Amino acid sequence: MSQRTAGTAKEKTLKILEENRGKIVSGEKLAEDIGVSRAAIWKGIESLRKAGYQISAVTNKGYILAENSDILSAQGMHLFIDEERYPYGEENIHAHRILESTNKTAKEKAFKGAPHGTVVLAEEQSNGRGRLGRSFFSPAKTGVYMSLVLRPAFDVSKSLLITAAVSVAVCRAIKIVSGKETQIKWVNDIFLDGKKICGILTEAITNFESGEIEAIVVGIGVNCNLKNENMPEEIRETAGSLSGLISRNRLAAEIINELMGILEDVTAGGSYPEYMDEYRRRSMVLRKSIKVYKNTVSGEFQNAKAIDISDSGGLIVIYEDGRKDTLTTGEISIRLA
Ligand code: BTN
Repeated sequence: MSQRTAGTAKEKTLKILEENRGKIVSGEKLAEDIGVSRAAIWKGIESLRKAGYQISAVTNKGYILAENSDILSAQGMHLFIDEERYPYGEENIHAHRILESTNKTAKEKAFKGAPHGTVVLAEEQSNGRGRLGRSFFSPAKTGVYMSLVLRPAFDVSKSLLITAAVSVAVCRAIKIVSGKETQIKWVNDIFLDGKKICGILTEAITNFESGEIEAIVVGIGVNCNLKNENMPEEIRETAGSLSGLISRNRLAAEIINELMGILEDVTAGGSYPEYMDEYRRRSMVLRKSIKVYKNTVSGEFQNAKAIDISDSGGLIVIYEDGRKDTLTTGEISIRLA
């Protein structure tokens, strides 16, 4: 388990403790493997404890990272990352204690040239952003708040396809870690037992001069072990949460594995992305009566029936007067009637 690779002594200590979760790791062995003094190891352990990691010291034996210590980190996710689907390394995964918004930080990184596969996570967001200018409630330790910078090798202007890919990836990851089947409300809200447990915000980085999309930032917020009584009044009726989840690191890693896998298939495959079948199958609006809000500020809506989802991700609806329409923009909001 030699750790004479890139990273600080603290990061390497965390990686070894994560790999041996629940087991004693000797301080001497840590120092030897990492190539630093035992005092440096102790300093690293203290700093990890301050960051909230539950690490106990066993006299004359070493240190143990508690089974239920659950803090998001590149080292904690590493164990669950599938390097075939995510070959970009731990150094491109940036986990923070608190950020204003992971999308904001990821966008700043993308502007500065951050590569495809850059991931930004936070334990808490002080100004989590949702679609249509809304905010996204992001309290500490009860969610996975994560943004990915994507520069896929296909036409990124097909943003609805990416949006659909992210929704399917999140549903698959939730199934892997919790065994639960979730549904998708067009465009990309994820529901469990009729309550929204995840929101997705996709933003484009456009080249100012050419007007071309250079990168896409996909922001994903999943509520985990968030109690109803701890939610703000206005979302208590509609929001839900995954519960009994042991590892948010695993959920974050599985979302990355699934999304990168789907994007790879889209790049490698023909014109029809297979995951669209799953997107339709998981849809909670297909064949239902809905209200279509084209102007969310005025609150005006039209009654319609959702009849299909096009291969490019648009929602095909029929209004009461028989007119057919394909909704193709995230600026439109729908509700079940
Ligand atoms: C929505 O439900 O309207 C979309 C919510 C998207 C929330 C995520 S949390 C991580 C990322 N950072 C943000 O500020 N927003 C997204």
